Amino acid sequence: MRKTLKMTAMAVTLGATPALAADVEVLHWWTSGGEAAALNVLKDDLAGQDIGWQDMPVAGGGGTQAMTVLRARVTSGNAPTAVQMLGFDITDWAKEGALANLNEIAEDGNWGEVVPEALQKFASYEGQWVAAPVNVHSTNWVWANKAIMDELGLEEPQTWEDFTAALQAAQDAGYTALAHGGQAWQEATFFDAVVLSVGGPEFYQASMIDLDPEALGSDQMKEVFDRMGTLRGYVDDNFSGRDWNLATAMVINKEAAFQLMGDWAKGEFLNAGKVPGEDFLCFRFPGSQDQVTFNSDQFAMFSQGDGVSEEQAALAKAIMSPEFQIAFNKVKGSVPARTDLDASELDACGQRAYEDFKAAASSGNLYGSMGHGHANPASVKNAMYDVITAHFNGEYDSDTAVEELVTAVEISQ
Ligand code: BGC
Repeated sequence: MRKTLKMTAMAVTLGATPALAADVEVLHWWTSGGEAAALNVLKDDLAGQDIGWQDMPVAGGGGTQAMTVLRARVTSGNAPTAVQMLGFDITDWAKEGALANLNEIAEDGNWGEVVPEALQKFASYEGQWVAAPVNVHSTNWVWANKAIMDELGLEEPQTWEDFTAALQAAQDAGYTALAHGGQAWQEATFFDAVVLSVGGPEFYQASMIDLDPEALGSDQMKEVFDRMGTLRGYVDDNFSGRDWNLATAMVINKEAAFQLMGDWAKGEFLNAGKVPGEDFLCFRFPGSQDQVTFNSDQFAMFSQGDGVSEEQAALAKAIMSPEFQIAFNKVKGSVPARTDLDASELDACGQRAYEDFKAAASSGNLYGSMGHGHANPASVKNAMYDVITAHFNGEYDSDTAVEELVTAVEISQ
């Protein structure tokens, strides 16, 4: 039988050795080295409050597999206490009435004041807080091995042409120019940045968020696919199915020069003892320097019957505490989900990301990542994934990919 927090407190008062406290069962996809290190910050925080942790990891970057397992668990009447979730997936579950109402905790913690609108859009549904945002990641980053850049005399590329010249130089020198794992969500992560770099923020808004058929079927979209094809030319032969963190390891180990990936990649560099600015560099994908395509990991609490359980409330509170937000995000590679914190403890890339995020939020340059479920619901996202990946693997030429994209998006809505 699970003990409640009250029973544990009683045991302590009576001088008995507290056995297991109430547990939270947490479904998540944080299984790489850097992700696991960040998760430990959360586990330790809860252990300090005598709350046990039942781990339910579902490997698979981007969370696609985790969401499939979640659906099966809920269908069989066995929903986990708390689930790592992204963007529109939270909204979809809230619509089904599956999520607990966190309003009381949110009011106590003043979440409405400190969490930016862009995150509240997903953390709440019809006036109810349904998830606690743990971070903000962004997807339009390039990660570079500094030793390779120095060796080849490469500067931080400012334009697409600079970037392809740098890729070519790395390839000519015998390195894998672009470390990549051939999985649909990783190719969709490229796509976020390439769409921005080809057509700027208006084009990103029109095609990825508003799903305007004209933008989806435009010449600019053909150019996007052409550039995806160019990037494909700089990937090594063994890219198929490779996990993202193994691609990051190629940059860490000086086998590859660059990786296009969200800033969870930084967690891998840090976990390997690498220092930003010395061992590796981070910069925005050339042509998207002023924009941020973001995603935010949030923990949604599944209703377990009446109201929010004490352990769910403790988890939500722990996630939103200022100390935790800094401690966790330093390790995870992301930035805090609250905008009221002092970022001086973050490393150089983290400080840059936090400033970029706040500036983008206030100047209207913050865009939900298509690749990570913040632009449209999973049905549309998955339809886009299929076309992007088929093109990347040579099944479609760019013209066909544009036509397929228009059709797939139309059918998926
Ligand atoms: C999540 C990150 C995670 C990454 C790779 C993203 O969708 O937001 O927290 O590290 O996927 O698994």
